[in-house]
Amino acid sequence: MERIDTVEALRGRVAAWRGEGARVALVPTMGNLHEGHLRLVDRAREAGDLVVVSIFVNPMQFGPGEDLAAYPRTLQRDSELLEARGAHLLFAPAAGEVYPRPLEAMTRVEVPGLSDILCGASRPGHFVGVATVVAKLFNMVQPDVAIFGEKDFQQLLVIRRMVEDLDMPVEIVGVETVREPDGLAMSSRNGYLSAEERRVAPALYRTLRALGDRLRAGDRAYATLEAEGRSRLEAEGLRPDYVAIRRADDLAEPDGETPALVVLAAAWLGRARLIDNLRIDVEAKPA
Ligand code: PAF
Repeated sequence: MERIDTVEALRGRVAAWRGEGARVALVPTMGNLHEGHLRLVDRAREAGDLVVVSIFVNPMQFGPGEDLAAYPRTLQRDSELLEARGAHLLFAPAAGEVYPRPLEAMTRVEVPGLSDILCGASRPGHFVGVATVVAKLFNMVQPDVAIFGEKDFQQLLVIRRMVEDLDMPVEIVGVETVREPDGLAMSSRNGYLSAEERRVAPALYRTLRALGDRLRAGDRAYATLEAEGRSRLEAEGLRPDYVAIRRADDLAEPDGETPALVVLAAAWLGRARLIDNLRIDVEAKPA
């Protein structure tokens, strides 16, 4: 696996591949890789001939007081994992390569509506940072297909909408969340949990499943279910940010005729902000 740090060298390499007719798949990451990321690489190998993985801890998507400085950087280990998993190129630019001017002076991409609700309401500017860096990575790598995890469900929808609105010629593929045996969604931020918090953390997914069972059984009292979800998280020792039942295609509030739902939750546990979601297909209520 080759490692490249500059956009110029990256362009040269990818252009050569394209000249040979290769289909290029991109897996954008912020590093500190775990099995969830490596499954994205597996999917990328199915979707393309050559796989580029980017590792870039994107300052634009962190708010003031968030964990940008503390975010784990494990480039050497990540590189070994990617090599073993069959990635072809690691693109690991420095911040100045991606943002040559101060962040506030850089052009940015905003996806209205989807970006300022749920995680976007708690983390103002986060999805502008995500959309901007993903748009830049698409321009740098020019992939045919890009792979993202469904754990960051809102992020996946923001990126799909951006690609649609800006006519970007990139196919977006979502990959199912990878979980620990006790149900906790894999995340780089799980590393922030103490042993006791790690024991408590699977309550997030258990709560989503309990709400999912109620929805499948026909309960449509969404606000009551959300409040119950929050109470349950509190009782388990988490500090809920939100528990929300939304339409899976656009995160709008559902009505009785919405068959594809997603239950999303974010909660604090110690210094970790955990997020998770569960998609549910329910029978539409007869009119
Ligand atoms: O999901 C992530 O790791 C990041 O938000 C992404 C998509 C790599 C953009 O920085």
